[in-house]
Amino acid sequence: MRSVRLRPTSLRAMALATAAFALVGCERIPGRPGPGPEVVRPNEVLDFPTLFKANCVGCHGENGRNGAAISLSNPVYLAVAGEDNLKEIIGNGVSGKLMPPFAKSAGGMLTDQQINVLAHGMMQAWSKPDLFVGKNIPPYKAAQLGDSTRGQQAFGTFCARCHGAAGEGAPGDVKSEAGKVGSIVDGSYLALISDQDLRSIVIAGRPDEGMPDWRTDGAQAMTDQQISDIIAWLASKRTANPGQPYPTQP
Ligand code: HEC
Ligand code: HEC
Repeated sequence: MRSVRLRPTSLRAMALATAAFALVGCERIPGRPGPGPEVVRPNEVLDFPTLFKANCVGCHGENGRNGAAISLSNPVYLAVAGEDNLKEIIGNGVSGKLMPPFAKSAGGMLTDQQINVLAHGMMQAWSKPDLFVGKNIPPYKAAQLGDSTRGQQAFGTFCARCHGAAGEGAPGDVKSEAGKVGSIVDGSYLALISDQDLRSIVIAGRPDEGMPDWRTDGAQAMTDQQISDIIAWLASKRTANPGQPYPTQP
């Protein structure tokens, strides 16, 4: 019964996640008694690295970076999200997106204690508690609605140099770890990601992929309003039928 609920949207993430689960599955050689008690029961695993490796690296990457989904070992992300939000998201997942719920109460496989170990372990292993002492950081959740027209302008100021004026890709010379910077206004991409996760990425960046956080490499930091406006503009690019290349008949 080792499973995550997945939707058939990201084959790569699914394949990796499945491989990660398979790896932890069979460390016991059949018919050969081990030295101590039998294999630790899944419920009793309370070691952060083991839990993270078994459940998270397929999508969030080895050591919480370089995965398809947001980098979880980014100290800026951890400072903005905080342990309570981590617990909530790990437990309940993100409805309609690839992030599965892990709490038994939400249909997952982990106990509340294991979820606490994961959230606390991430903070212990990767956060830098002194990073923003006495500094203002944008709130994790949007405090106000964004305006997509203003967002388009702000995108031009803060994002276009790497993502192109329309968000459709880098103007040539900018490269990500993976190669050319892809489109972030593509309907299929936007269908896979929630507004909150877009916000988290814009605030915390993807240091593993060469994307700066909201302070934009020390130039001028974005205001909370500008962040919300940019998310509103990206959200306005969502389409009703993502991945459908032909206009539907009226
Ligand atoms: C210095 C260059 C740079 C700037 C400035 C920049 N980005 Fe990025 N961004 C990147 C790179 C590189 C990636 C990785 C893209 C890839 O691998 O295709 C990325 C990825 C992303 C992603 C996808 C991340 C994911 O994991 O799904 C989003 C969304 C994004 N950027 C939004 C923005 C927005 C909005 C802004 C402006 C507020 C911005 N970026 C500014 C370089 C930049
Ligand atoms: C099948 C792929 C998959 C697996 C496995 C997975 N995640 Fe995620 N996770 C995602 C995706 C995709 C998102 C972005 C969801 C969205 O759009 O909001 C996400 C989002 C998150 C977020 C919230 C990010 C934000 O924007 O604030 C946290 C925290 C998180 N995952 C932690 C974990 C932890 C811890 C594990 C292991 C217990 C895990 N995830 C396993 C795919 C996965």
